[in-house]
This record gives sequence, C-alpha cells and structure tokens, in this order.
Amino acid sequence: MAKHEFRDVGSLTEAEAEAELAWLAGEIARHDKSYHGEDSPEISDADYDALRRRNEEIETLFPKLKRPDSPSMRVGSAVSEKFEKIVHAVPMLSLDNAFSDKDVRDFADRIRRFLKLGADFPLVLTAEPKIDGLSLSLRYEDGVMVSAATRGNGQVGENVTDNARTIEDIPENLAGDPPEVLEVRGEIYMTNADFAVLNERQLEAGKPTYVNPRNTAAGSLRQLDPSITASRPLKFFAYAWGEVSALPQTTQSAMVEALARYGFKTSPLMKRFDTIDALLEHYRRIETDRATLGYDIDGVVYKVDDLALQQRLGFVSRSPRWAIAHKFPAEKAATILKAIDIQVGRTGALTPVARLEPVTVGGVVVTNATLHNAEEIVRLGIMIGDTVTIQRAGDVIPQVLGFIAEKRPPDAQSFEFPNICPCPLQTPIIREATASGGEGVVRRCTGEFACPFQRKEHLKHFVSRKAFDIEGLGEKQIEYFYDDPELPIRTPADIFTLAKRDMQNGLKQLQNRDGYGAVSAKKLFDAIEERRSIPLDRLIFALGIRHVGETTGKTLARAYGSWKQFHDAALAVAAGDETARDDMQALDDIGPAAVDAIASYFAEPHNRDLVEALVVQLTVRDAEQAETGSPVSGKTIVFTGSLERMSRDEAKAMAERFGARAAGSVSSKTDLVVAGPGAGSKLKKAAELGIEVIDEAAWFDLIGN
Ligand code: IVH
Repeated sequence: MAKHEFRDVGSLTEAEAEAELAWLAGEIARHDKSYHGEDSPEISDADYDALRRRNEEIETLFPKLKRPDSPSMRVGSAVSEKFEKIVHAVPMLSLDNAFSDKDVRDFADRIRRFLKLGADFPLVLTAEPKIDGLSLSLRYEDGVMVSAATRGNGQVGENVTDNARTIEDIPENLAGDPPEVLEVRGEIYMTNADFAVLNERQLEAGKPTYVNPRNTAAGSLRQLDPSITASRPLKFFAYAWGEVSALPQTTQSAMVEALARYGFKTSPLMKRFDTIDALLEHYRRIETDRATLGYDIDGVVYKVDDLALQQRLGFVSRSPRWAIAHKFPAEKAATILKAIDIQVGRTGALTPVARLEPVTVGGVVVTNATLHNAEEIVRLGIMIGDTVTIQRAGDVIPQVLGFIAEKRPPDAQSFEFPNICPCPLQTPIIREATASGGEGVVRRCTGEFACPFQRKEHLKHFVSRKAFDIEGLGEKQIEYFYDDPELPIRTPADIFTLAKRDMQNGLKQLQNRDGYGAVSAKKLFDAIEERRSIPLDRLIFALGIRHVGETTGKTLARAYGSWKQFHDAALAVAAGDETARDDMQALDDIGPAAVDAIASYFAEPHNRDLVEALVVQLTVRDAEQAETGSPVSGKTIVFTGSLERMSRDEAKAMAERFGARAAGSVSSKTDLVVAGPGAGSKLKKAAELGIEVIDEAAWFDLIGN
C-alpha cells in the first residue's frame, strides 16, 4: 500500500473530518481482519499505528464525530464472526484414535462383536494417510458446486465458497455421471515445498514467517478476500462424503474411486486389506515413507469398506464405529522445567502443572505440561531447574517423561506439594479415599462453592464448546468478568443478565472499555442471546455434574425428553426416591457413579438455586426424537437373552435409530421387552409388571426390516 499522506488536522473542515473518520474505520477494520485470519498484515506495524493515531487525532479535535464503530473503541483484532454459517446436511464427524497395534486389533474385535460376525467372516478395511490439514465439505447439485463449508463445530461450519472456488484441486463442475446431490468431503492442505517457498518470500519481504503448513492452510482458506486464498498454493484430497441423493457404489473404496472419476484428487496410498496384519504392515510402510510424501500426515485412517456394514455400525457421540485414526507415535523434545504450579479444577481436584521454557514439538510451541498428581512428580524424580523430556501426541496435553540427569544444575530445587489450597480461601487439602478405602492420589480443595477457582472452572466448562458454546465468551472472558466490579459473572445465570445489567451502567458500559467497542459488545450480547435457547442435552452437560459427560447428557436428555421431566427425576433421586433411582440407573450407559453424582448435585441447595436461577433465563429445547413415526418411537425397550441376527449393542443402537430408548433393566418405565433364548430374570420381571414381550423375529417385523 502506498503510504497515505495526511493533511494537518487543524486544516480539516467538519465534513472532511467526518469522511476521513469513515475511511479510517473501514481501513483499520480491514487490517484487523487480516491479522486475525492468521494472514500476514498488508501494512507494517508502524503504518498501522499511524492510521490509529490519525483516527485519534481527528476524534480529539472533533469529538462529536466519533463513530459508533470507531477503531478507538476496539483493541486488536475483530471478532471471528466474519463468515456466514452453513448447517451441514449430515454432521461432520471426528475420528476415534488408536495409539498401538493392540488398539487397532481391539477396534476390529469391537466391530466383529457389534455385528456378530464369525471369526472367519472376512472383514475388509481400507487404510489411507490421515492428512494434517483442515476438513472441508463441498456441495454439488447437478454436478455444479453450490457451496463449501469448513467443519466448524461439526454441525455448523463457515461458508467459504468463494475461497474454495479459487483452489485448483476443487472442480467447479463434476465429470462423469455424479448423483444429483453430492457432498464431497476431504482435507485442505499445503505441501511442505509450497510452505517453504511462502516462508522464503515472507523473509525476503522482512515479514514474520508462518509456523506450520496446517495453520497456514487454515488461515489461507479463512480469508475474507478470496484473492488472498487464490494466491496461496492450497491442495485438496477427497476421502469422504456427506449428503448423497443416491449412493453410486456400495463400498468405501469404490466410492473414493468414483470421487476420482468425478474429478477429485484422492490419496494414492489408500488400500484395502482383509487381515489386521496386512493393515498394520501398510501402516508401517506409510510411517516409513512419511517424510518423503511432501505433505504432513499424522497417522493412518482405517475404515470398514462395506457401506452396508458402516450403516449398521453407526456412531457413538461424534465418531463413527466403523473408522479409527491410528496415530503415529508422539513427538518428543527436551526443555527446562521453570516451575510447578497447582491448578484447581472444576471439582476441586488439584493438578500440578509443569511450566516450561517454550519449546517446539512437532510444529507446536509447548509451554505447559501436565504432571497429573503429587505421586507422578515423585515417580519422575524431577526438580525445578531440570532439563525434562516431554512428549506431545495429537491434541492431548503434553506430558513430562523424565529428566536428563547430566543436565541437573547444582541449584535445582525439589518441589513440595502444598498442604493448603492455593485458592484465596487457603483451605486445607484433603486426599480422596479410593474405592477400597485407601488413600487416593487425588487431592482436593475443600472450598467447593466458596472457592472462586472452582466456580471459575465451572463457568469455563459451562461456556465450553460442547456446552453453551458462546462465541466471544470463553475461558479468557470468564477470567475477565469474574471479578469485574461493574459487570461480574459469578454464576451461569449472570451470563444471561449481562446485557441488561450493562445497560444500567451508563458511561461504564462495556462498549466504552478498552478491548471492547460498540460492535464487539453487541456481538457478545447477541451471541449470548442466541444461546438462550438451548438443547436439553447441552444444558445437562453444561451443569458440570461429575461423571455426566457429553454422552451421558445425551442419554439423559433422550430418556427424559424435557427439562421438567429430567429435573423432577433428578430431584426425586436426590430425595432418595428408589423408583426414580432404578429408572435412571436402568438407562443404557448410566452407571451408579453418575446416578450418585446427580443425586448429590441436586441434594445441594446451592446447586438447586443456581439451576433454578439459570433455567428461568432459558428456553430449554426438548430432546429430539430420532425417527418419529416409527412404531417404537419414544418407547423404552429392553433387550434380553441371546439374539441371533445382531449383538446386544447393535440392537440398542438400532432401537435408538428408530427413536426408541434402550434400557439395561426392566422397570415400570419399560414399554417393550425383546427376549431371545435364555432370557431369565428380566423376562420374569416383565411378566410381573405386565409389559409386552416379543422375540427377535417379531422385533424385525415391527421395525420393518
Ligand atoms: S475420515 C467420518 N479420512 O481427521 C469420518 N478424515 O479426526 C470422517 N482427516 O475431521 C473423516 N485425513 O479432518 C478421514 N483420510 C482421512 C483423513 C481424515 C484427515 C481428518 C478430518 C477429520 C479428522 C478426524
């Protein structure tokens, strides 16, 4: 950009000042965005600062002309609300991980068990590299590309259609005879050579270099200006699909071959195998060739080849049962242990965290590693000042493996685990007993509701991605607002009164603060407003009850349907109602630990108040029933005895697909029992309670299979 010549502020007329402020607002916002998209700034820092200074000078002289979107009300980059959203017709899933040969064999065994396949049934799996890029979903209608979306949270992604159109590997029109509707999914990546050239250019221009090909590919795709994307050498491999009007093939491998015929690049390393030994051999070949591929991969993905089997296998929460990613071994590095801090978790558990001299491990800068508990520090024998070895595998928090004895400095200091909590209450630390009554390794802060650390962690969990997922309100902002004198967020309900409370703050409103402006404050309030309506399963998960994770939240939501039903049941369980307890525990995947945790959560008056105050702020959406209109929709079904055509797990998954709930034991809430040969006590109980019992053949008749 040519340097802008500014006139003396004193010589500007009001109209000229107004016009220049408008120009500056647009210009500065544009540069903020290019910083934000991990792109290199178009102008130097000095020029950028000059624009901001100019804006302030004019505003000082013409205070009346200050614009609501003035850059002076906003610090740093704009919020990421920059692309339109696209709801994926079929969710974009993630993959479960395997880290060893045994994990892979277990994966295959699980599939065989689930499908009740005999040992001699040839289970064919495909194996292909796991590309370290970012996934993209391309929608074609009548062979023409209509949209492109990033994965986002799996349900909703960002509309990057204009950018995708600039990528050579992405055809605008499909060749051959594609289905009417076809969503092609695959990975956007950058080759190592292209990445190196890009960085050389940056260096020559005196600009900062990029960290790794993956982040650069991601930043390049998420550009507001498609011409920037076009200037970056992005590539695309197709390996999966979303919505398809009519599947043209019956196997994974034939589908990928079809994608190649339609005009996509597909991995030349994808192969089919019918033994695990051959599959693992291919994994090792790919691992050996890894450095010569020319692009980064972080493992090998295995998929069941037969699409009919994939369909039967279905999903568990966010990953398919029919695929797994076999990750390459973790990368290691050595660095200095500078300190050990104690972190207080949501449940008061104290975790020692290693603070490290920053070190790059596999393209990522690591500054912290978990030490799990006090025993781990003793076991590792580490001292502060030591050079420690660390490893990082995938997205897992880095771990400390040990220390290098020769490098121990004479002034290395040993670490004493404290007896009192580092929280402001300085409570004595308790050690939790193990199941057998011994002294456990977990140490806890006893502050509970009074402990600000625990409350903060609860709030962070509450707003996290799988819970309320509020854009612009993450961990950092919870820290920011928690102790805020004007606008504190101390409980979940406080989040939903934030906008109203802010309005009463006059000049001290959020929009007048450093770091916030009118636009970003409004965005935050809008994002909160958007989440006032929340699906039941997310609300249950967000409460942060111990042992109630995402899957348990979903199971409970499906079982109880509405907030009222769930809340009533939870209060009843907390009050010691045996029937309510049995009903809850009869639910599939709900163990006694979860039921105990729900009981103690709702037995605590603080929690009940907190929940009540929250729920009046919300519209809780009832759980979706998977397949309404099916004869078993909304019913609770128990499978018992031995089944011929399917495993117990497949039967349960199938019931859920048809909108029913699968329970593990018979109770007054059971609607139907499907009994095979050898059924015993459950059958008896069903007879006592007068519940309908059918056999496996009648079950298939019922659901029309
Ligand atoms: S299959 C239903 N195949 O890995 C499964 N994913 O952890 C759909 N990825 O989000 C994914 N290479 O971005 C599949 N050959 C490959 C892949 C691959 C990379 C990424 C993808 C996905 C993530 C899952």
